[in-house]
Amino acid sequence: MTGTGERAAVVTGAASGIGRAITERLRADGVRTLAVDRAAEPDDPDSLGVDLTTREGNRAAVQVALDRFGRLDIVVANAGFQHVAPIAEFDPDRWDELLKILLTSPFLLAHYGWKALSEAGTREQGGRFLAIASAHSLVASPFKAGYVSAKHGVLGLVRTLAVEGAEIGLSASALCPGYVRTPLVEAQIADQAKAHGLTEDRVLSEVILARQAVKRLLEPAEVADAAAFLLGPAGRGFTGAAVPMDYGWTAR
Ligand SMILES: NC(=O)c1ccc[n+]([C@@H]2O[C@H](COP(=O)([O-])OP(=O)(O)OC[C@H]3O[C@@H](n4cnc5c(N)ncnc54)[C@H](O)[C@@H]3O)[C@@H](O)[C@H]2O)c1
Repeated sequence: MTGTGERAAVVTGAASGIGRAITERLRADGVRTLAVDRAAEPDDPDSLGVDLTTREGNRAAVQVALDRFGRLDIVVANAGFQHVAPIAEFDPDRWDELLKILLTSPFLLAHYGWKALSEAGTREQGGRFLAIASAHSLVASPFKAGYVSAKHGVLGLVRTLAVEGAEIGLSASALCPGYVRTPLVEAQIADQAKAHGLTEDRVLSEVILARQAVKRLLEPAEVADAAAFLLGPAGRGFTGAAVPMDYGWTAR
């Protein structure tokens, strides 16, 4: 399609939701893609099971992609989870885990992948680093201290990668979605419906999507389309950018 046929990528959190959709989209576009998650997918020879809260897991993600594809052009740091609790009850161990997966893993992927990404920087489309950040990189919500802090932090990382990466032909950006219909959000809808004694439809429009101007969930494939654009030829100029895709959440 776009001259991306030989490129190679790592996508983390690829077994579900947004990461799965991005993996499918990149592969459909001809990008050889290592799908990284907690467990390898039995039917996918290009998948890797590692724990991305460890240094070894992130090092392995880069190394296995290089061993398999001989190059690494694209890193998509996407793996994550949510934990909801007021500050006084927020388990410090959950805080540590959130920072490890949402902030330290993207850093480690860039750290271990830097040499390979600088080699990609000499090729036509350059090296690309994309963090699947969040509207919560730009604004806060109550009870999400760990998530909001880590998602704000990853913007700082991406901006630093963009500035340092300019010399090696690397573009680094953050896609900041509003709510997306994935297991992470479906679990929150069910929990809140129970907690508030409301139907799931009412929870969606009155609680979950209260801050979005448009009361709709994004679909994972729509986020994957935006990621494919940012990782494609037209996306190269987006570096150091936080790109909101949030149905107007952060517009007010
Ligand atoms: N769903 C949304 O509304 C939404 C909105 C904005 C941003 N995001 C972000 O998008 C990303 C993906 O979210 P999703 O909704 O697709 O979630 P999801 O729960 O559907 O998928 C997340 C994946 O990450 C993997 N993962 C988590 N911890 C891991 C670890 N330690 N090691 C290896 N793999 C691990 C999980 O196994 C899972 O497959 C997250 O960073 C999330 O914060 C989601």
